[in-house]
Amino acid sequence: MERENFGSKIGAVLAAAGSAVGLGNVWRFPIETGQNGGAAFIIIYVICILLLGLPIMISEFLVGRYTHANTAGAFRIVSNGSPWKWVGRMGIFTGWFILCYYVVVGAWTMHYTFLSVTNAFHEVPAKEYGDIFDNFVAHPWLPTVWLFVFIGVIHYVITRGVQSGIEKSAKLMMPTLFLITIFLAVCSVSLPGASKGLEFLLKPDWSKVDSTTVLDAMGQAFYSLSLAMGCLCTYASYFDKKTPLAKSAVNVSIIDTLIAIMAGFIIFPSVFNIGMDPNEMGVGAGLTFVSLPNVFQQALGNGSFLAVVFSSLFYFLLFVAALTSAISLHEVATAYVTEEFDMTRKKGAALVTATVLILGTMCSLSFGPLSGLTLFDRSIFSLFDDFSGRILLPLGGMLISIFAGWVLDRKLYRDELSNQGDLKTPYFKMLVFSLRYIAPLAIGLVFLDQLGAFGFLK
Ligand code: PHE
Repeated sequence: MERENFGSKIGAVLAAAGSAVGLGNVWRFPIETGQNGGAAFIIIYVICILLLGLPIMISEFLVGRYTHANTAGAFRIVSNGSPWKWVGRMGIFTGWFILCYYVVVGAWTMHYTFLSVTNAFHEVPAKEYGDIFDNFVAHPWLPTVWLFVFIGVIHYVITRGVQSGIEKSAKLMMPTLFLITIFLAVCSVSLPGASKGLEFLLKPDWSKVDSTTVLDAMGQAFYSLSLAMGCLCTYASYFDKKTPLAKSAVNVSIIDTLIAIMAGFIIFPSVFNIGMDPNEMGVGAGLTFVSLPNVFQQALGNGSFLAVVFSSLFYFLLFVAALTSAISLHEVATAYVTEEFDMTRKKGAALVTATVLILGTMCSLSFGPLSGLTLFDRSIFSLFDDFSGRILLPLGGMLISIFAGWVLDRKLYRDELSNQGDLKTPYFKMLVFSLRYIAPLAIGLVFLDQLGAFGFLK
């Protein structure tokens, strides 16, 4: 079977950026930045991207493009049959695992877009936003309906193929996402009292920085760039031989970081406008589905046209961000089953979709009817979230950097990176140094931290 490629360089970068820009940019990065010293955190975050994120992203791109195969096949080829081939399989497993709970939140963003468009938050008293959310996620079937719709959209894009599905949707959705982000940021920044919000986000406060801040920044950089899950490797397997690897990785990182910072421009000016304390807003779901709907209504006029537009666009933005990331996760698994088990794309995608429907539904129901079902003291949703984010992700990242730095043939690396001598690679030595020493060590620390080894520091 003929293997598809992305049709253009810009399509390739937008698809990879679509994978990177996701919920993490909106519901974690801004709050982490605000609470951990503003610009001081951003500086540390950018250093993490330069030292660890980029070398690993470039390596994943390289393995994907060199082999033109799904992630399992790719690592089998570059590992020459050694046990390193398991790194690829592990990435696929991690991605699939993340997808199973990520779709649940994607479904919530659809419901909240719907609530916003229909002005359901009109005149809701501040203290009731928590109940709205709790009742929704615990509802016996409503979240599952949205879940099926969300997964249906992913399935549709994936079955259309690489160029007319993934690339075309990225070319449409990424610019849309960018425009909405700019519009919302400008609206929020022009609210009275906005400057305090910007100060909270941007003023460097080094006194808040300690060793755990650095670990947080590394973990966030990793998740945000979609590293170690086969996504970038799979997408790069659709790059043509002329796509510049390092430049593409830099572009993806810039887009991802800009969107994350702009998400802060959307959130904090509104928060300070209504005099709320950002330290009490929570992160993740609590922030996104409880604090923020309230903030937007209050800042823009409860039930007003502006509040409806702003809130609808905000949840639509989250939906688009989650969707493009989920598509990339689905593609990792689809490419794997299609190529390794010799199926048509349609069949492979259907198989992946079926498993995600089943496990995703279980994750979703773990907030309601299945809430009694726990393992290791965790609900099914938290189990998927914690196991993939805390264990598989850093472990995978560490193995990839060790593999790329120590095992992968140096000449092969250099030839691929320079597109067989066409491009200059003055950064090559630094890159190898990071892959060999800095990245494995740093990610090893994140890993130990996630396992709770540094609890005494907190
Ligand atoms: N990078 C995405 C985000 O910031 C999350 C993600 C992780 C997407 C892994 C795909 C793969 O939300």
